[in-house]
Amino acid sequence: MSANLRKLISKGLILVMGVFSATAAEPEKDPTTGLIKAKDWELVTANCMACHSTKGFTQVRLDRKGWEKTIRTMQEKNGLWPLGEMEVKVLDYLETNYGLPKEARNPKIRRPLVD
Ligand code: HEC
Repeated sequence: MSANLRKLISKGLILVMGVFSATAAEPEKDPTTGLIKAKDWELVTANCMACHSTKGFTQVRLDRKGWEKTIRTMQEKNGLWPLGEMEVKVLDYLETNYGLPKEARNPKIRRPLVD
């Protein structure tokens, strides 16, 4: 690969990274639980933060199925109560705010190769 091409590619990468960091503004978080304050976060606080109070699972990223499985595990092993009609809202919240990044879901987009 020529030096010029290399330069061009690295410039392009920097540009792409700049665009990403500009669009990924830090979401507002609740200082007590560390949860992102998005739609229905109070519902998630009430149902999930009773046991793992601070920053219990804010590092976890799962798709909707994964979150559903987690809720089942919570219910079977850890004593989480049935969520009833709240479950859909809790899942919406978890999928939206603690879901997998879009690129991981789209097989057409690959990470750039490292040379
Ligand atoms: C009645 C108590 C209780 C409730 C309510 C509860 N959990 Fe848990 N949760 C636990 C326990 C106990 C563990 C296992 C110990 C641990 O890993 O912290 C756990 C672990 C987890 C883990 C795995 C943590 C990890 O680092 O792998 C996730 C994810 C999780 N819970 C999500 C949730 C979600 C989402 C909710 C709400 C829908 C919820 N929990 C509600 C008790 C609870």
